[in-house]
Amino acid sequence: MGTIFFILVHPYLLFLSSKVSFALDSINTSQFISEANTLVSKDGNFELGFFSPSSSNNRYLGIWYKNIPAKTIVWVANRLNPINDSGLLMINSSTGSVVVMSQNRSVVWSTSPQRQAKNPVLKLLDSGNLVLTVTDEKDENSRISLWESFDYPTDTFLPGMKLGWDLKKGVNRILTAWKKPDDPSPGDFTFGMLEMGIHSYPAAYTWKGNKKFYRTGPWNGLRFSGSPDLNPNPVYNYNFVSNENEVYYTYTLKNKSLISISVLNQTTQSWDRYTWIEEEKIWEAYSSRPGDYCDRYGLCGANGNCVFTASPVCQCLKAFKPKSPELWSLTEWSQGCVRNKPLSCDTDGFVKFVDLKLPDTTYSWVNKSMSLDECRVKCLNNCTCMAYTNSDIRGGGSGCAIWFGELMDIRQFPAGGQDLYIRMSASELQEEKHGPKIKIAVTVAAAVAVVSGTLLVGFYICKIGTKLKVKKESNGIISHQNNEGQKEDLELPFLDLSTIVGATDNFAPNNKLGEGGFGPVYKGILEDGQEIAIKRLSRSSGQGLNEFKNEVRLIAKLQHRNLVKLVACCIQGEEKILVYEYMPNKSLDSFIFDQTKRTLLNWSMSFNIICGIARGLQYLHQDSRLRIIHRDLKASNVLLDIEMNPKISDFGAARTFGGDQLEGNTNRVMGTCGYMAPEYAFDGLFSTKSDVFSFGILLLEIICGKKSRGLFHPNHSLNLIGYAWRLWNEGRPLELTDECFRQSSTLSEVLRCIHISLLCLQQCPEDRPSMSSVIVMLGSEGALPQPKQPGFFLEKDSNEAHCFSSKQELFSTNEMTITLLEAR
Ligand SMILES: *[C@@H]1O[C@H](CO)[C@@H](O)[C@H](O)[C@H]1NC(C)=O
Ligand SMILES: *[C@@H]1O[C@H](CO)[C@@H](O)[C@H](O)[C@H]1NC(C)=O
Ligand SMILES: *[C@@H]1O[C@H](CO)[C@@H](O)[C@H](O)[C@H]1NC(C)=O
Ligand SMILES: *[C@@H]1O[C@H](CO)[C@@H](O)[C@H](O)[C@H]1NC(C)=O
Ligand SMILES: *[C@@H]1O[C@H](CO)[C@@H](O)[C@H](O)[C@H]1NC(C)=O
Ligand SMILES: *[C@@H]1O[C@H](CO)[C@@H](O)[C@H](O)[C@H]1NC(C)=O
Ligand SMILES: *[C@@H]1O[C@H](CO)[C@@H](O)[C@H](O)[C@H]1NC(C)=O
Ligand SMILES: *[C@@H]1O[C@H](CO)[C@@H](O)[C@H](O)[C@H]1NC(C)=O
Repeated sequence: MGTIFFILVHPYLLFLSSKVSFALDSINTSQFISEANTLVSKDGNFELGFFSPSSSNNRYLGIWYKNIPAKTIVWVANRLNPINDSGLLMINSSTGSVVVMSQNRSVVWSTSPQRQAKNPVLKLLDSGNLVLTVTDEKDENSRISLWESFDYPTDTFLPGMKLGWDLKKGVNRILTAWKKPDDPSPGDFTFGMLEMGIHSYPAAYTWKGNKKFYRTGPWNGLRFSGSPDLNPNPVYNYNFVSNENEVYYTYTLKNKSLISISVLNQTTQSWDRYTWIEEEKIWEAYSSRPGDYCDRYGLCGANGNCVFTASPVCQCLKAFKPKSPELWSLTEWSQGCVRNKPLSCDTDGFVKFVDLKLPDTTYSWVNKSMSLDECRVKCLNNCTCMAYTNSDIRGGGSGCAIWFGELMDIRQFPAGGQDLYIRMSASELQEEKHGPKIKIAVTVAAAVAVVSGTLLVGFYICKIGTKLKVKKESNGIISHQNNEGQKEDLELPFLDLSTIVGATDNFAPNNKLGEGGFGPVYKGILEDGQEIAIKRLSRSSGQGLNEFKNEVRLIAKLQHRNLVKLVACCIQGEEKILVYEYMPNKSLDSFIFDQTKRTLLNWSMSFNIICGIARGLQYLHQDSRLRIIHRDLKASNVLLDIEMNPKISDFGAARTFGGDQLEGNTNRVMGTCGYMAPEYAFDGLFSTKSDVFSFGILLLEIICGKKSRGLFHPNHSLNLIGYAWRLWNEGRPLELTDECFRQSSTLSEVLRCIHISLLCLQQCPEDRPSMSSVIVMLGSEGALPQPKQPGFFLEKDSNEAHCFSSKQELFSTNEMTITLLEAR
């Protein structure tokens, strides 16, 4: 710093020849930044210069923390136009604009030209803000700012930055994630505020393309409505400003020697805060949004309420019912809920709901000086007004916010949420007073009855497209001609073998995805481009055709967002083929047991996967009309969709197709070594609780990134369960967790999951929780029972060793499968 640099030759010549390194904190029109020098803020914290991201050769102009060894880029200028040779930054004295150009003199980035450009100076401030100032024409002694990098953020929200609108300047400051870790070009994941009028109730959103992905909820004077946990903290002060000139969110650090930033991440689709830990030289995760399943924008549709501890998580608000009960019961909640009783406008009243995240404020109106009573009257007087509440909760509440139309993206908090007064018809209010009539049972029964009916079939057709050779009867039920020419109703589209042969290139080996429990699985592409997964059941099957059809009919009825969908089937000659939706991210084991891919899973994604598996399993055990025991739950049977949502596969299959395959593939058909509960492995007894045991193993595997099978700890006779139990008893359970989870801000959640896994792994089935209890445990913070010593904790006892010796016993359990499916 402080080096005086004076240009005697044309900048380009110097730029090409200079190798000398020096740093300035500002430049004027006769200076420049090249590959050989940088700008450094006065306090030495921030540095601006040219860089290449990890594995790329492209050059970008950026700003980073000078003293942090892991180069943390906080701003990039030419993110759209990389330079492929070497770069130069200068101020063009005639236009007053800052330009970045490549060696061949083509401009790759510039600020807009200025009319007034007297003595322009570009300076890197201590805040990390790059500012272009000029001498004020009206006052020679003062300087005015023409442009600043804080108005054009990339993916990083620095202390002192304002995210949101400056209506006077006409800038909207949004964060845009890097496309990939080595590509700073803009991804489609953004964070920003909607432009709304002065009477609106502003909130920030993350967006995936043009779809809302997460909503902070409106600012209620203390915090965002969707973050009841955003409390005064030792690290930073936050503030939200909304007036006629500006609407923005900002924060400042409490201790200037702390470093804390907030970053938008395309890979994990999250908005994360990190704090630099100097002693350990790491960025520690501090918080992350979305935080859980219920943070997903609009998960439960209009007038739905997401309750994390409920099953299913989506509930209709009181006095509302699912718009489409069929889809709702299939956990397809996007249609949302409608009123039980229509509004009448004149005679309506309001019901108070508590502890909510306030609904989406896109269609809202605010008056900061109205009282709650005035607010009520305002809402009542407009028939399209659906709800009202105080716009500011400080000091007992003040101001008025009212909502028009459907209420979107509400969730229920256990505590710390807000009151909302929702409009109800007079007759609904009467019922509120005198208690509801018992009509629910009938409605539910009717809803369930329709599930297997026409709508479900319509659903399949939509998914699979028109290429299926199906005929639609006048009653809307799908039929097909089977080989014998008889009409049948399988409630599932049939595909011709020729279509499947075409889609898989005649079962080409390079289309093989893997070997499932009952035969190979292939990837296929239908003529219309739709990708499918094809399971070709082993030809040697001794199962009869009718039996097969019965089973397909059963599996087709299992519909849940955490189960892989069966979309079609094919029966022709010897071939029995099941067609499933295709899961681009393959199976969970390919992530958790792979050192490289594992790093893509942060804790919040892992937790989302854990909760999804738990929900899928609970549906099989309880919520589906058939009680299904999976019997072969394991990491490779959990597939991941494009958004990394888990989908359980091979459910119902053990019962269905297991009969004939015993000799070929014992460990797959009847359960997998390392996942089997003791009573199942030794005595062939299985129940929903043996699935709970497998879930416990899976949970441990996700947490520690190690397979339960195989040698775990070389110096001990302990297996993974035993190792977990030992660390638990020694009070060091966190040593079990994968490195990357240990830095997580949600350590208590990780610990809780270890605790739950030990409960699932109890020796006696009666001591294990049901899947519904597991879901409640995952979603709450209440005390958990202390686990006793788990089953199978010594390697020599483990089912690993037992697996093959007890083959005969396993065979003999065949008759018991009859109890597997209990009609409800
Ligand atoms: C640019 O800054 C240098 C160093 O402060 C100074 O010597 C030079 O005169 C300045 N040039 C202009 C055109 O202001
Ligand atoms: C000049 O460099 C830029 C950026 O490196 C590149 O995009 C452009 O194609 C180059 N032009 C020529 C004529 O080489
Ligand atoms: C940069 O890109 C231009 C245009 O694509 C190309 O002509 C030139 O050779 C490239 N330069 C380098 C160093 O790769
Ligand atoms: C400054 O900008 C003007 C207008 O774009 C351009 O003609 C001129 O060449 C630029 N000067 C330099 C030194 O690049
Ligand atoms: C700020 O943080 C530094 C380093 O962590 C610490 O030494 C100092 O006491 C803190 N200052 C205040 C005012 O808390
Ligand atoms: C806001 O409320 C105050 C107090 O009731 C009232 O005087 C004012 O006119 C209202 N403003 C608007 C735009 O309705
Ligand atoms: C009710 O509110 C809507 C939305 O702001 C508005 O368009 C409409 O004019 C209002 N109606 C009455 C009667 O005030
Ligand atoms: C996004 O998350 C991934 C996985 O946790 C991490 O490797 C990457 O560095 C993150 N990107 C940013 C910009 O923080």
